[in-house]
Amino acid sequence: MTLLGAMLDDDVRPNRLQDVAWLREYQHRGSPVGDPLMLALGETWDHTPKALLDALREVPPHTHGYQMSMYGLPLLRRLMKRYVAESQRLPESGTWELAVSWTGTRSAMRDFASYVDGQAQAGQPTALVVAPAWDYAGFLEPLGYRMAYVETAASDSFIPSIDEIRATAEAVDELTLVVINAQHNPTGNNWEPEIVRSLVDVALARGAAILVDDAYFGVCPEGVTPTSATAVLLEALADTGQIVPWVSVRSFGKQFHCNGWAIGSLVAEPGFLDDFVNETRPQHTYNYGTHLQYAMAQWLADGPAVNEYLRRESSELEVKRAFVAEAFGNRPNGGVIAGPAAPYALFPVPDEFLGNEQEYLRRCAVRAGVFLSPTWPLARVSQLSGNGFVRMYLGPDLAVLTEALERLGKAGLFPR
Ligand SMILES: Cc1ncc(COP(=O)(O)O)c(C=O)c1O
Repeated sequence: MTLLGAMLDDDVRPNRLQDVAWLREYQHRGSPVGDPLMLALGETWDHTPKALLDALREVPPHTHGYQMSMYGLPLLRRLMKRYVAESQRLPESGTWELAVSWTGTRSAMRDFASYVDGQAQAGQPTALVVAPAWDYAGFLEPLGYRMAYVETAASDSFIPSIDEIRATAEAVDELTLVVINAQHNPTGNNWEPEIVRSLVDVALARGAAILVDDAYFGVCPEGVTPTSATAVLLEALADTGQIVPWVSVRSFGKQFHCNGWAIGSLVAEPGFLDDFVNETRPQHTYNYGTHLQYAMAQWLADGPAVNEYLRRESSELEVKRAFVAEAFGNRPNGGVIAGPAAPYALFPVPDEFLGNEQEYLRRCAVRAGVFLSPTWPLARVSQLSGNGFVRMYLGPDLAVLTEALERLGKAGLFPR
């Protein structure tokens, strides 16, 4: 059975995503121009480090039971703490502590947002998020949050301006939560520390909670220093002496191509984190996945191998990024936006699809078998409109990206 078959063949509708409906339509027609090329989800289903997979075969029997610590397997937690501290350049002081998340980081973010909402004054909570964004609204809106988006422009590569951040915050009556995603999905921009600091400052000025999402921290190429949003936040807290609830998460699924393992780090103020892992999170989840944490610990223990793997992956990514940018003509304004800090490229749809990006995505899928996503990568059906761009995931091999662009060209769907 093919990989996609193994994941989708069932007698129920596997999910509600629009592109999965198109995928099935394309496959039912016998995949007329070749196997579907999956560039919508940020997922390769391969490229996982061999040593990480090998470690999975060596797990001791006790790892199949519940674990005891709500902070995660101690062996992994200690290694992860050192790894996060070093790579994210966090101070050594006791102002933060780390727990392992074994439920992915999305559910930890949701738990945090729910906690913050529970503490907020009466009235509708509001979350400030830079647009376009990963699907934070997907868990915030159902919790009752209103979204306040910081508008950005394609001509600025969708990098937020400090003025706009301040103006958006000022226009909100009840600022409850500020979300910071400095290695930005979908643009791949690495926000400068001043931008991160301004987001932190608007939160501190209003007593709002702060959610740092460092999902792509580990994928920048050599020579690019990713902004450590968590370090900026800790510095601001130390400078101002202010206290607001905050959490910083980092998914390990992206950098090590093991999203299905759902492992990530949770960093927060030690007292808060203790309550968060021991009271908030067990409301819905027990201590699972020890075998995965054990294997991740074996892998993280080999620092040189981890660094070499990340170096190779990110240099391959640079080649793919340059290839896609070149193919689209590298137009500086309104052309491809493919920052160095996340494995995505945004490119403008052909003029005739402006305002109807969904139709462009549909045609790419059903006519070329090329699956792309909107600039708002959502895990649900939504009314958010496009902004003249679509997103291509750059994780798969160069040959796959080359074929995808060829197919778009042949189908008349390559933007001119
Ligand atoms: C920006 C961003 N944050 C968080 C996540 C969620 O990662 P996890 O698998 O840890 O829940 C993703 C996954 O796509 C992401 O792109």
